[in-house]
Amino acid sequence: MARIQITGGRRLEGSVEISGAKNAVLPILMASLLTEEPCRLAGVPHLKDVTTTMELLGQMGVGISLGDRLSVELDAGSMDSDVAPYDLVKTMRASILVLGPLLARRGEAQVSLPGGCAIGARPVDLHLKGLTAMGADISVASGYIRAKAKRLTGARIVLDTATVTGTENLMMAATLARGTTVIENAAQEPEVVDLANCLNTMGAAISGQGSNRIEIEGRERLSGYDYTVVPDRIEAGTFLTAAAITGGRVRALNAAPDTLDAVLAKLEEAGGQISTGENWIELDMNGRRPRAVDITTAPYPGFPTDMQAQFTALNAIAEGTGVVRETVFENRFMHVLELQRLGADMRLEGNAVVIRGVDHLTAAPLMATDLRASACLVLAGLVARGDTVIDRVYHIDRGYENIEEKLRQLGADIRRLAG
Ligand code: UD1
Repeated sequence: MARIQITGGRRLEGSVEISGAKNAVLPILMASLLTEEPCRLAGVPHLKDVTTTMELLGQMGVGISLGDRLSVELDAGSMDSDVAPYDLVKTMRASILVLGPLLARRGEAQVSLPGGCAIGARPVDLHLKGLTAMGADISVASGYIRAKAKRLTGARIVLDTATVTGTENLMMAATLARGTTVIENAAQEPEVVDLANCLNTMGAAISGQGSNRIEIEGRERLSGYDYTVVPDRIEAGTFLTAAAITGGRVRALNAAPDTLDAVLAKLEEAGGQISTGENWIELDMNGRRPRAVDITTAPYPGFPTDMQAQFTALNAIAEGTGVVRETVFENRFMHVLELQRLGADMRLEGNAVVIRGVDHLTAAPLMATDLRASACLVLAGLVARGDTVIDRVYHIDRGYENIEEKLRQLGADIRRLAG
């Protein structure tokens, strides 16, 4: 199994090109199921989750080819299966996103219950409740969700929690439903907006995306899309945090500053000097040690849970004491135990971790447990004294394109060890 080795102590300096947003690419690829016409998505990062999605769609009979400008061409015109099998779904929770489109276009879907990141119980009850409200007949047996509906009908759906993939699934299903669907307490994440914008280029009639009330007027059919995905705000945030933790200066190119307000505010509070342009963000730490910051994760536009682990690493070596509170997922603190192995002073208290910054971490062998936890361990490795070896780095390949190559370009001493 591949591992990453990092020799800590280098200050990161330079520019890094941010890839397309994983969490927008996945639903937009799944949206190709909504139409018989060919689709083309540009700016697709080379990630394990993208490969898994292509494999999943390929198994359903969707024609897939790779084009220029990191584009993927999809053709679901002659798809012949409505099944998302366990062996693929278990590796990627976002596979659940085929449910809405399959049901809406084909009247039927069988999707294995998802696995994915080991970050607490992550149910899909709200996806199912919403589809049921739209007239779907849903049962769960032998680990599979089976859904049927001759044609979905518009409904008013009030989500208990502003679920991101739940909002996306229901929004996609509603584009082909009879009548109008309203999703209240909808997720407002930029990736939801990007999906809605793409669906609108296909002829869908969606309004309110980016607010907590999304309205979708159903259509008889949708056309194909030719679309470019938004930049990955979590990847950008991770590289800027890497600059902060090492006292360096990094410019993230192809980044969208307006999607990162909460993160940039905290990086500034930590002592980072931030400057932005239309599509870039720079953080300069001027060689200083970061100051500890308090974080509470929340749905967008709050501080993203997908940046929580990286800020936990930042606080580990910061000046002062910081409290990181996780309100979106339970049990998303597996990285804390690993950081403690490097000498971090951290105390778990329910859904929070109290971190007293230490002036240095010391390298140790580490184990990645989920996607964002892996990014946190890489950041810690960049500052730990000695050689940190991180095992199970396949988690990081699910969501970061060429992370070691990009960090090396910024001056990090990092390499992948085979086997
Ligand atoms: C998405 C992102 C993930 C991010 C998360 C929160 C993708 C592919 N993944 O995941 O990177 O960490 O949003 O920003 O976009 N919930 C329920 N019932 C449901 C669905 C969700 O109770 O049916 C709860 C979850 O347990 C969690 C909360 O809602 O506590 C938010 O989860 P959700 O927004 O659904 O996360 P994902 O869409 O899976």
